[in-house]
Amino acid sequence: MTAGDGSFAARAGARWSALVEERRIPQHEIGGLAHLDRSDLVADAVSDRRVDGVRRRLDAGSSSLSARSRIPRPRLLYASLAAQNGCVPSSPTWFANRRDPAWSAPSPDRSAVEFHRQLAGYAVTPLVELPQLARELDVGRVFAKDESQRLGLPAFKALGASWAVRRVLERVGTSAPATIVTATDGNHGRAVARWALHFGQRATVFVPGVVHPDAVESIRAEGAHVVRVDGSYDDAVEMAFELGREHGHVLVQDTAWFGYEEIPGWIVDGYDTLFVEIDIQLAGCGVRRPDLVVVPTGVGSLLQAAIVHYRQPGDASTAVVSVEPESAACVHASLLAGGRTVVDTGSTLMAGLNCGTVSTLAWPAIVAGLDAALVIDDPSISGASQALADLGVDAGPCGAASLAATRNVLRSDATAFRRHVSVDAHATVVLLITEGAAANPW
Ligand SMILES: Cc1ncc(COP(=O)(O)O)c(C=O)c1O
Repeated sequence: MTAGDGSFAARAGARWSALVEERRIPQHEIGGLAHLDRSDLVADAVSDRRVDGVRRRLDAGSSSLSARSRIPRPRLLYASLAAQNGCVPSSPTWFANRRDPAWSAPSPDRSAVEFHRQLAGYAVTPLVELPQLARELDVGRVFAKDESQRLGLPAFKALGASWAVRRVLERVGTSAPATIVTATDGNHGRAVARWALHFGQRATVFVPGVVHPDAVESIRAEGAHVVRVDGSYDDAVEMAFELGREHGHVLVQDTAWFGYEEIPGWIVDGYDTLFVEIDIQLAGCGVRRPDLVVVPTGVGSLLQAAIVHYRQPGDASTAVVSVEPESAACVHASLLAGGRTVVDTGSTLMAGLNCGTVSTLAWPAIVAGLDAALVIDDPSISGASQALADLGVDAGPCGAASLAATRNVLRSDATAFRRHVSVDAHATVVLLITEGAAANPW
């Protein structure tokens, strides 16, 4: 599958590639790390022998696959990479990106917004003002965008999955039933399963072993065939890609790599509905634009949607920051390294953010348009989730990550962070609460 004319990649054009090239560490300086920027690794690195074995077991009806022969992913030495790249990490918990203030993003495809508005069950999700948090964080106003109920599911993911499945089916036609395949840390797979079934199709969902059994059960309950993968999220993506290709299934993945960018681009287009809603809701509260938007981040597709939304020509002053678990901080590590960098992942409470590789579509937008990359640890999550619950906002671990990380950076490095993102005591902050507690048992 390649990027078609209407896709995000095609709209972005060569200008983005040039931007990335500018920021890459020269090859001679990084030596053996050069291969880490090869995003075609999914296609290349799975040996035919391994795929054959996996295919035989899937054909035999197995619902559990091993990924032991996984691609080696070197754990990176942040300090030495930062030194090689001539940059200094702001602190271990955040990275100050020097974005290009003159850069603007290609315009988002607004047909997804119209599509969502016509869906039965569509409702604008709440944007809740939290003055108690504004006082605590010493800013003007804080709003929480509560995605705990979105199109009948407990996370924002249905926005991307519904639009992408719809576009895929327009493309392939619906005369014969299609099987849609994907990999997931939980929420995306459940949303794809829901929307595949909604449109009368089948779904096969690959799930890494660390995902909670209740989350797996929720995907099964949508009617999907679930395949457990004894490996990481990245391993599950590889398997979904390979097995989808072998069986002629359609891969609807929420991350991109070179050669597979059109469908992830549709998913990003679908996420824009969330930001369009925020604009309208903030306007209703007398706010023209937020000063800071905090985005829980896995592969970076939601982050890409945020950056594209807030980097349109005319006014790019909203600061956009990402939040990742410290055990799966691929955006943070990539910015530090000056090029897309794969990190090993283990387990984290923030299951939906447990991703080791940044999407190739998201990366140029991140380099050009992100203000800062925050990192947060698991122990900080429960306090943030409880604080939000006390204020009436239902937040699962990924949802609570935005508050946890904002609190953390404002406690540990307030002056530098505030200056970098231009946030003062009058600023308006929007925290994306991307899932409710029901999405992600912990
Ligand atoms: C609840 C939740 N929040 C945030 C994200 C991050 O989205 P992305 O992977 O596009 O960065 C995910 C991804 O699955 C998620 O499930």
